[in-house]
Amino acid sequence: MPAAITIEKLTKSYKGLLALDNLDLKVESGTVYGYLGPNGAGKTTTIKILTSLIKPTSGKAYFFDQDVTKEPETALINVGAVVETPEFYNYMTPNEILSYFGKLRGLKNPEIEDNSSRCLKLVGLDNWKKKRIATFSRGMKQRLALAQALLHDPQILILDEPTIGLDPRGMVEVREIFRSLKKEGKTIFMSSHLIREVQEICDSVALIDKGRLILSNTVESLFEKSDSVDIEMKLVKPPPPEQIALVKRMGGIESLTQVDPTTLRISYKGSFDDVVLLLKRIVNQDLKIYSFKTLQGDLEAVYMKMIRESVR
Ligand SMILES: Nc1ncnc2c1ncn2[C@@H]1O[C@H](COP(=O)(O)OP(=O)(O)OP(=O)(O)O)[C@@H](O)[C@H]1O
Ligand SMILES: [Mg+2]
Repeated sequence: MPAAITIEKLTKSYKGLLALDNLDLKVESGTVYGYLGPNGAGKTTTIKILTSLIKPTSGKAYFFDQDVTKEPETALINVGAVVETPEFYNYMTPNEILSYFGKLRGLKNPEIEDNSSRCLKLVGLDNWKKKRIATFSRGMKQRLALAQALLHDPQILILDEPTIGLDPRGMVEVREIFRSLKKEGKTIFMSSHLIREVQEICDSVALIDKGRLILSNTVESLFEKSDSVDIEMKLVKPPPPEQIALVKRMGGIESLTQVDPTTLRISYKGSFDDVVLLLKRIVNQDLKIYSFKTLQGDLEAVYMKMIRESVR
């Protein structure tokens, strides 16, 4: 089976500005794929090409084996998308909006009714389906956009920052929706700035910067990179220098920096079991610790490192 999404040497220039530069990417069917990168990296540009809102300067993009740059209508039959903050006509209701999109998608009336009510339930707008959108918050419009993307039960979902504008509870709910869609075997390709969110729900990630791919990998393998652990400890009061010296001499400590008077950063070589022992020994030193966390396995750290390296 071909990959759900295949991007080949995709290039887009806007009057001399290279927004995408020979980008290659593959998203296997059934995966939740996080698309990361700093502002202006080219995420939305990629998504607009995938959804045929703009044409690439060169290169190809396939859904399964259909080239969206050549035959957008056929290629996009199995795709639902939310691109940028959605705007709807204020005087319409969710039911009317979905009926309109359903007709555009070529669905028949009974199917539109069934699917609308299922999708609105899924995104938590069940009680709002007959209310005018004029009264909706940004988060509610975001949910409606998601319902519209899901209306024809597509195999592939393309989402540009799907949880932007949602409150924390809304974010958790949308993540739950993604998990259940994944269980149904759907492929989700989503751009995001929320690294923790990506870490939580995605199987794989790609990181781009200045239109170029910096890395793509499974989320799991990104965490297994190093055999040393970064630990951050916060203390109630600044520790005396002799105590710091004692900690420094403990086995496995590769480096210790005092980030500020009450924060210590430790690079420690050892397994997570060893970390437990280290914590015990440090507590025995009578250091007043109120927070102790390992930073390894943190996508944020990987992300910052990759971006820094790409700048060089
Ligand atoms: N219509 C346009 N005309 C000219 N330049 C554009 C246009 N759209 C995007 N760009 C430029 O292309 C680059 C990539 O923009 P894009 O919107 O794809 O970034 P992004 O990764 O989505 O960023 P963000 O995280 O801020 O949403 C940027 O330098 C942007 O200024
Ligand atoms: Mg964008």
